[in-house]
Amino acid sequence: MEAGAGDGARALLRILRDLPGGLRAEELLAPHTTFRIGGRAFALYEPPTEDALAEAVVRARSHGFPWRMLGGGSKLLIPDRGFPGLVLSTAGLRSWHEEGEFLRVGAGVPLARVARRGAWALAGIPGTVGGAVAMNAGTRHGSIAEQVVWVQALLPTGRVHTFSPAECGFTYRDSLFRRLRLPVLAVGLRLQPCQDLAPFLRERAKSQPLGLPSAGCVFRNPPDGRSAGWLIDQCGLKGARIGDAVVSEHHANFICNLGHARASDVLELVDRVQDTVVSEFGVWLKLELEVVGE
Ligand code: EPU
Repeated sequence: MEAGAGDGARALLRILRDLPGGLRAEELLAPHTTFRIGGRAFALYEPPTEDALAEAVVRARSHGFPWRMLGGGSKLLIPDRGFPGLVLSTAGLRSWHEEGEFLRVGAGVPLARVARRGAWALAGIPGTVGGAVAMNAGTRHGSIAEQVVWVQALLPTGRVHTFSPAECGFTYRDSLFRRLRLPVLAVGLRLQPCQDLAPFLRERAKSQPLGLPSAGCVFRNPPDGRSAGWLIDQCGLKGARIGDAVVSEHHANFICNLGHARASDVLELVDRVQDTVVSEFGVWLKLELEVVGE
């Protein structure tokens, strides 16, 4: 943690300490990500309600502290120097109300629970519902946007707005919430009839390196229909390694952490992959992974 971080953490604690829920100073973020990489935040706050989350964002903003949301930490690369501000975890927002084929869930509900209840196309995707909506998570079988009835998110004014599917601005692995950094609070979903998820989970386990820490697919598939994994594989980059960050032998669009990878190792490897693929195929691979601070 950099000089002055202690002061920043103390100042944040002062402005948030009367709010309900867990508040921890100088929290190491690596354990909160599936990559197991990243330094400390000034503070990590886990609001137990949507109102508490909104209040914390308003206060961080008015005191000029950077802030960001943290769901399952599954598509995130946190810098080694950490995050000089407030990280808000959605882990406490786990409400669940079902009515027939309609489900209303809090942003912190694990996506796997929703997939089991009636979203088979999302089987095997890690993370939370809020994160999945923000990045329009999906597989070859479909994306969460196809089941969204509405999304409640926090506006910069501190008001909560209910967005219709058309207002959500969903595109491939993206949404208005990600583009404008609007925290997703709750989501209404249309459930599909239950289906056996085992074949989807088996398919994923066969083709992806699920045993090692990673952030899932690092790059978006290019719009020409080719797979980023295939392009990287064709360049002979499987096994390319910087420090403890390695391009998976299992699926070339995964970078795995062999134990002590640093964010800087991952970023160097990302550069190498992008440079090689553009010189071999003329395709610039865009990041699907969110690099905090970029
Ligand atoms: N391929 C290779 N070498 C590799 C990886 C893939 O030749 O190292 C080939 C495969 O053989 C296949 C083609 O590329 O012919 C596509 O591969 P795959 O079926 O694994 O699909 P993908 O496009 O690489 C997408 C999603 C995955 C999702 C799978 C399955 C993106 C960027 N990736 O991968 O999502 O799990 O489909 O539905 O859209 C993620 O978002 O984190 C993720 C892993």
